[in-house]
Amino acid sequence: MPTHDDVDAFLTTTLIGGDPTLDAALRAQHDAGLPAIEVAPVNAKFLHLLTRIARARRVLEVGTLGGYSTIWFARAVGAEGLVVTIEAEPANADLARANLERAGVSDRVQIRVGRGADVLPTLAGGEPFDLVFIDADKESNTVYLDWAARLGRPGTVVVLDNVVRAGEVADAETPDTKVQGARRGVEMLGADPRFDATALQTLDRKGWDGMALAIVVDPVASAGA
Ligand code: DHB
Ligand code: MG
Repeated sequence: MPTHDDVDAFLTTTLIGGDPTLDAALRAQHDAGLPAIEVAPVNAKFLHLLTRIARARRVLEVGTLGGYSTIWFARAVGAEGLVVTIEAEPANADLARANLERAGVSDRVQIRVGRGADVLPTLAGGEPFDLVFIDADKESNTVYLDWAARLGRPGTVVVLDNVVRAGEVADAETPDTKVQGARRGVEMLGADPRFDATALQTLDRKGWDGMALAIVVDPVASAGA
């Protein structure tokens, strides 16, 4: 009986195939001792396709890690596009910078080093982002979602990673602060009138998890308004 790992391998091989640039980025990340918590290839390509389907030109990513998903977004926005990616850990940002350089997309990516809560307010006042991917410290999910709406426009696509956490998200009493963050993120997407959202469970090489998908319906809607 095939397992979900066999399916992941089949889907990845068949639909994505090998990519020396991405392989090199992951090897550099591994060699630097970073955790292998980047999005799985099938999910990275899902995000890439979503970006193209939305015809997004300006993408905001919270949580760069080694830049694996960043490369997928950079390829999706095209030569005229822009990806702004926020990374709290300077060493990760250095690694991501080298990976993006090797991938030939540094011209369209800006890495902002700092905590999301500090960097996001500095982005206000610019052109709105077309797509926002939130994949950083889970405890701050609601802060990041709030900024995703503020920095977006009606129609901005928002994706929140890791909302299932091996099913633990269904446990309202969980002591795990990352799971609490996932729960609060989903609850905010359900209750906040600025968003319309759903979520999908995923099973891939990283195990059982999920992504929430939302659209900003009105960046300035307020409850009761
Ligand atoms: C963790 C973070 C992630 O963004 C992810 O995709 C998987 C795990 C973590 O911090 O445990
Ligand atoms: Mg993640």
